[in-house]
Amino acid sequence: MSYQIAIDGPAGAGKSTIAKKVAKTKGFIYVDTGAMYRAMAYYLLTQGIDPENADDIEANCVNADITICYENGEQVVMLNGENVNGVIRNEEVGNMASSSSKNPKVRERLTILQKELAAKNNVVMDGRDIGTCVLPNADVKVYLTASAKVRAKRRYDELSAKGVSCDIRQIEEDIIKRDEQDMNREIAPLKQAEDAVLVDSSDMTIEEVVQAILDLCR
Ligand code: DC
Repeated sequence: MSYQIAIDGPAGAGKSTIAKKVAKTKGFIYVDTGAMYRAMAYYLLTQGIDPENADDIEANCVNADITICYENGEQVVMLNGENVNGVIRNEEVGNMASSSSKNPKVRERLTILQKELAAKNNVVMDGRDIGTCVLPNADVKVYLTASAKVRAKRRYDELSAKGVSCDIRQIEEDIIKRDEQDMNREIAPLKQAEDAVLVDSSDMTIEEVVQAILDLCR
């Protein structure tokens, strides 16, 4: 049996940073499920699909073959045979992903792939519905969150460090809007699983959060 660590939480809570470090320490693979939803969203954007047109999303998502592989320990998302890691980390793709991930067909396709990965490998998997839907029997479940203000500040610092000029209030508004959408959709909404441990990272360092999760692994 594989060992499964599920980390769910809202946008900007630090899930991927933390999950990568936990995976490295444990020697597990890290599965970033948000990147899969982003790859699907990227595909739909390249096809000119309207984010609110559920029928078009459903009809087109079957043409996106999404897989992941690992290069030097880093997850690479492949879309129809092409590495899309470099083009999925922007607001346009993130907003489309938040919309298209509401679609049952999109979720069904990606959930199958995620379950397969976790059946064959020891994993740290992060997303919105990992503890609730994808890996309901995970060995460790964490709901990682932080206040919208702290999350906006982290994103602002990240973008500023890259030389991107941005408005912190706009970032906070976008974060709140994305939380709304992810938490209130009909299928697999973002919520804390009953058996998940709540970790609020607002006043914690990265190392403290990593250690808190490692302490849960017995
Ligand atoms: O974690 P992220 O920002 O890269 O995720 C992008 C979007 O994908 C997010 O707004 C909601 C969706 N998502 C999802 O619905 N289920 C997951 N397991 C992961 C992400």
